[in-house]
Amino acid sequence: MATILITGGTGLVGRALCKALQERGYDIIILTRKSKPVAHNQQPEDRIQYAEWNIDTQTIDKDAIAKADYIVHLAGAGVAEKRWTKKRKKEIIDSRVRSGQLIVESLRNIPNKVKAVIAASAIGWYGADPVIPNPDPFKEDAPADKEFLGDTCRQWEQSTEPVNQLGKRLVKLRIGIVLSKEGGALREFFKPLKFGIAAILGNGKQMVSWIHIDDLVSMFITSVENENISGVYNAVAPTPVSNKELVLQLAKSRMKFYFPFYVPSFILKLMLGEMSVEILKSAAVSSAKIQQAGFHFRFPDIKTALQNS
Ligand SMILES: NC(=O)c1ccc[n+]([C@@H]2O[C@H](COP(=O)([O-])OP(=O)(O)OC[C@H]3O[C@@H](n4cnc5c(N)ncnc54)[C@H](OP(=O)(O)O)[C@@H]3O)[C@@H](O)[C@H]2O)c1
Repeated sequence: MATILITGGTGLVGRALCKALQERGYDIIILTRKSKPVAHNQQPEDRIQYAEWNIDTQTIDKDAIAKADYIVHLAGAGVAEKRWTKKRKKEIIDSRVRSGQLIVESLRNIPNKVKAVIAASAIGWYGADPVIPNPDPFKEDAPADKEFLGDTCRQWEQSTEPVNQLGKRLVKLRIGIVLSKEGGALREFFKPLKFGIAAILGNGKQMVSWIHIDDLVSMFITSVENENISGVYNAVAPTPVSNKELVLQLAKSRMKFYFPFYVPSFILKLMLGEMSVEILKSAAVSSAKIQQAGFHFRFPDIKTALQNS
C-alpha cells in the first residue's frame, strides 16, 4: 500500500486524517518537530512511523522523503492560538512558508517517488463579502486579500508552487472553519455555552464558511487518490451560515436552556486585537469547484454537521 508522509499529522486535522488513512490500509509517516516513540500496546498494523524535520535549520529525515508516495502538508503554527504580535505573525508565516520551501527543496534534492503533494491553505485567502448575504460566493480565482491572513495564504500557497515544475501533481485545499468535536473552533464556541450563554460575535451577520472534519478528511483522501484533482479547491461545505445561525444551532444541539448574547465588536477588538478583524469578517466561499470534480459532502448543512460533531 502507498506511504503517505504527513506534516502536522499530530494536529486536529492530521489526527483524523491519519485514522482514516490507516483504516484504508495506507502506511503513514508523520513528519514532526519532535518525534514520539511508538506506543507498546499498538498493533503492528496500527503503527505510525514518526520522522523529524527542523524548519529553522531546513533539515529533514531523508528516508521519510525517499519512502513517501504522497505528501500531505498540514503543518503551521496555530493562527487563532495566540494574539497576533509581530513575533507571532512571523511564526505563523515562517512555519508555513519555510516548511513549504523545505518540502520543495527535499523533493528536488532527495531521490524520491512522490506522485503528489496535497497542501493545506485557508479561506483566509479571501477578502470580505462586498454585501451580506453575498449572492456570488468567493471562487478559487479570486485574488488574495491584502490583509495579514490573505497575504499569509498567498505566500503559503506560493511556497509549494515549484512542486508542479518537478513534474508532480499539486493540490491546495483552502480550508474553511473546521467543525470537530475534538477541538478547534467548536471548542471555543462551546466555552460560553457551558454557562448557558450563546455568544454571538459582533452583530452575528458575518458569514462563516465551515466544513465538517469528516468531509475535510475525505477531501484530502480524494485529493490523494483522484489523479484528476489538481490545483486549488475551496474546502468548505456548500452552505455557509451566519455567525448567529452557527452559534444558535450549536446551542440548540447541545443545551436545553441558553440565552443569546451579542458580544460587541469593540470587546472582541480589545480581547483579540487584530485577529478580531478576521472573526468579524464575512466571507461566503463557494464549494462548486470540488463538487463539479465529483466530491460528495456527507454533511452539507450546518444542522446535521453539528449533530455529528
Ligand atoms: N482547523 C481549522 O479550522 C483550519 C481552518 C483553515 C485552515 N487550517 C489549516 O490546516 C492545517 C491543519 O489544521 P489543524 O487544525 O490540524 O492545525 P493544528 O491542530 O494547529 O496542527 C498543526 C500542526 O502543525 C505543526 N506545527 C505547529 N506549530 C508549528 C511551527 N511553529 N512550525 C512547524 N510546525 C508547526 C504541529 O505539528 P508537530 O508539533 O508535530 O510539529 C501541529 O500538530 C493548518 O495549517 C491550519 O492553518 C485549519
